[in-house]
Amino acid sequence: MAKIAFLGAGSMGSAMVRNYLKGGHQVTVYNRTMEKAKPLEEYGAIVASTPMEAADGAEVIISCLTNDDASRTSWNGENGALKGNFKPGAYAIEASTASVDWVRELADLTSQKGLRFLDCPVAGRPDLANAGKLKVFAGGSTEDVDAMRPVLDAISAAVIHFGPVGSGLTFKLIYNVMGALQVAATAEGLVACEAAGIDLKVAADAFSTGATGSPHVKLHSKNMAEGIIDDPIMFSGKNRIKDTSYGIEVIESLGAQSVLGNGTRKVWEQMVEEGMGERNDSELIDALRASLKRRSQK
Ligand SMILES: NC(=O)c1ccc[n+]([C@@H]2O[C@H](COP(=O)([O-])OP(=O)(O)OC[C@H]3O[C@@H](n4cnc5c(N)ncnc54)[C@H](OP(=O)(O)O)[C@@H]3O)[C@@H](O)[C@H]2O)c1
Repeated sequence: MAKIAFLGAGSMGSAMVRNYLKGGHQVTVYNRTMEKAKPLEEYGAIVASTPMEAADGAEVIISCLTNDDASRTSWNGENGALKGNFKPGAYAIEASTASVDWVRELADLTSQKGLRFLDCPVAGRPDLANAGKLKVFAGGSTEDVDAMRPVLDAISAAVIHFGPVGSGLTFKLIYNVMGALQVAATAEGLVACEAAGIDLKVAADAFSTGATGSPHVKLHSKNMAEGIIDDPIMFSGKNRIKDTSYGIEVIESLGAQSVLGNGTRKVWEQMVEEGMGERNDSELIDALRASLKRRSQK
C-alpha cells in the first residue's frame, strides 16, 4: 500500500481519496479551502495545511484540480508539493484536465526534483469517481505506468496507456472536445425541436434510441428534456469552455484542424454570456433558450 499525498478535495478529488482509503492506502490530503477536505478525516485521511506538508514522506503525489493555475500553484507555488520532503524516487501524477504545455513543464520540474512523472487525466463524472470506475488516460513510460498500475486501479475501471508523457492528456483533451461537441449539439437540436413545436421528451427518446444515441446524447437529452438539474453540480459550463480551449490549443499545435472545436466553444460561451457559467453543463439548453428569446425580441 502506498503513502499518498493528494492535492484537491473537489468533487473528483474527494471521491478518489475515499477510494484510496477504502483500498488501504495512507492518504494525506490538501485542499485550498480546508473545510472541504475536513470531511475526509472521517474516512481516515490526514488533512495538511499546505501541499508541501502533504508531500512530506509521500511515495506518490497526485493532484486533481481545476486548471493550469490551480495545478501550478499547488505543485510549484511558495508552499508547493515540489518543495516537500517526499521519498526518493517518488511518483508525481497529474490527474487534472490541464493544458499539455503546462503538464510538459511540470514533468520537467518534477524530474529536476528526482520524481517520476505520469499524466493521468480521468474520464467519468463524480458518480463514476465515487464508484471507483473512472477511466485513466495515462501518459508516461511503460515502466512507470506499470509501476503505478496498483495505485491507478484503485480509482478506475480501466487504465489506458497512450504513450510518453503528455499523451494521456493529449488524448483526454481531444476526447473532451468530441464530448463537448455532442452535448452542445444535443442542446442546439432540442432548442430547434422546441421551436418547431416538437415535444422534447419524444425528441430526446428518439435521439437516444436512434443512430445519434451516444452515452452523452442519452444522458444530456434526458436531463435537458426533463429539466433534471444535478445538485451538487457535476460539471460546469466554464469547465466545458476550459477543456475545449485546452483541446483546441493542442489540436491546432499539431497542425490538425478544430473547426468543430472552435464552433463548439462558441456555443458553450453563451452560458457565460447568460450568467450561467457556473451551472451544470446540461443547463446549456436554458442559455440557448434565453439567447433565442432575446434574438426573437429584436
Ligand atoms: N467533474 C467532472 O465530471 C470531471 C470529470 C473528469 C475530469 N474532471 C477534471 O477533474 C478536475 C477537478 O474537477 P472537479 O469536478 O473535482 O472540480 P471542483 O469540484 O470544482 O474542484 C476543483 C478543485 O480545484 C481547486 N482549485 C481551484 N482553483 C484553485 C487555485 N487557484 N489554487 C488551488 N486550488 C484550486 C479547488 O479548491 P477549492 O475547494 O479551494 O476551490 C478544488 O480542490 C478538473 O481538471 C476537471 O476538468 C472533472
